Amino acid sequence: MKFFVDTAEIDAIAELNDLGMVDGVTTNPSLIKKSGRDIIEVTKEICDLVDGPVSAEVTATDAETMIAEGRKLVEIAENIAVKVPLTWDGLKACKTLSDDGQMVNVTLCFSANQALLAAKAGATFISPFIGRLDDINLDGMEVIEDIRTIYDNYGFETQILAASIRSVNHVLESARIGADVITAPPAVIKSMVNHPLTDKGLDAFLADIKAAEIKIL
Ligand code: G3P
Repeated sequence: MKFFVDTAEIDAIAELNDLGMVDGVTTNPSLIKKSGRDIIEVTKEICDLVDGPVSAEVTATDAETMIAEGRKLVEIAENIAVKVPLTWDGLKACKTLSDDGQMVNVTLCFSANQALLAAKAGATFISPFIGRLDDINLDGMEVIEDIRTIYDNYGFETQILAASIRSVNHVLESARIGADVITAPPAVIKSMVNHPLTDKGLDAFLADIKAAEIKIL
């Protein structure tokens, strides 16, 4: 499973990248706004830091302008994936940009039907938003499972990029289902290491090290 970090905060990306936990980065207009930085500048800095795909989202809603924006975004670096929304204009832009040989991440996906359209339009990645489906009492994981089944039924190469990840359970369930990628906030990835029994066991080892005066150096 590939881990993408869902943020435009350089320091947070660098910290996880140093641990080998960053296979790519996803941003969107809300994350760019939160960074307080210029989209081109911060996206270039991320591309310089990370070898894997870096998703940068278009701002337009019409296909022609999305395509123009996408062609400008890919000039930033070779590892840019152009993010387009799952609309007919977005799918048209996806088809054109993917035919150009560009990576395209189709975002704001909320159903398996939408994901089927994105695969047929040549999407490199499809981003189903688990958390936002859960927010309205739908089952985000069920959508991931349906997409996995459909893509496997027909051999679609589009990678399932599970997004809107809000918890370590979303990561676990996405891995169980076989999503190709998860993109999660740095805090969620970091919290995957936590377990109370690990803490308890380490405390016990440390107590015995102290009591037995065990020394290595
Ligand atoms: O990659 C999409 C992600 O940033 C959306 O997350 O928590 O705003 O639904 P969220």
